[in-house]
Amino acid sequence: MDTKPIGIFDSGYGGLTVLKEICKELPKYDFIYLGDNDRAPYGPLSFETVYEYTLECVKWFFQQGCPLVILACNTASAKALRTIQQNDLPDIDPSKRVLGVIRPTSEVIGKYSTSKHVGILATSGTVQSESYLLEIKKFHPEILVFQEASPEWVDIVERGKHLDDEADAPVKNRIDNLLQKDPNIDCMLLACTHYPLLIEKINRFVPRHIQVISQGEIVAKSLKTYLGNHKEIDDHCSKHAQINFFTTGNEVDFNNHASLFFGTAVQASKIKL
Ligand code: DGL
Repeated sequence: MDTKPIGIFDSGYGGLTVLKEICKELPKYDFIYLGDNDRAPYGPLSFETVYEYTLECVKWFFQQGCPLVILACNTASAKALRTIQQNDLPDIDPSKRVLGVIRPTSEVIGKYSTSKHVGILATSGTVQSESYLLEIKKFHPEILVFQEASPEWVDIVERGKHLDDEADAPVKNRIDNLLQKDPNIDCMLLACTHYPLLIEKINRFVPRHIQVISQGEIVAKSLKTYLGNHKEIDDHCSKHAQINFFTTGNEVDFNNHASLFFGTAVQASKIKL
């Protein structure tokens, strides 16, 4: 049987925080990572543009033969996933799959909150889409969800300033804003794959009784379960423990930044879509 790597997509570097956890959970599988760094950030872009860019990247993964693509980006998952799944996949190739990060996170969020008041920190695009409000309601109708757009956090992380003093005020302000919306929040979800890089700062400003949740582990566990339940997809996934990295941006910049997100050195190739 023809087997190929699983595709992992993000607008930039953030998806590497998810890929890192996926590799721990599925160490034998092969992966192709693509960061659309040339056109990042996606957060401020319109629905149409995020959809257009994401679809272009998904088609590129399919050209590489990937049987499954994970949108390891909340913004792309919020603004493009459903249309791609419902309108495009049936025409392109109904045997392939594209999955996102919002549904698996929403499914399990209930177990992290006792007060049933959950806070979401995300890009403006993800917040405006209201995808988390809708998805969490489906799985946990009893949970109250409050959102705070923190778009400048993406910029801080992309510039590699997440450990610098300049990150303190923007991180503190967004957390304070969210808690002003609802002081009963006992669980804050980092609903942008860039944000785990800011965890040191976030932990400094979030009161101790609040759990801060990153998505990497959740998405990785959910993918493992999915592959266990979908043999028809799993059989098409190659398993030689190989990862290849691609960027639409400058590959030297990518290599310099990516290791921060991924944890080990990375050698990317530049592609033109
Ligand atoms: N990593 C993307 C996400 O999870 C956001 C970054 C961007 O704005 O491109 O939403």
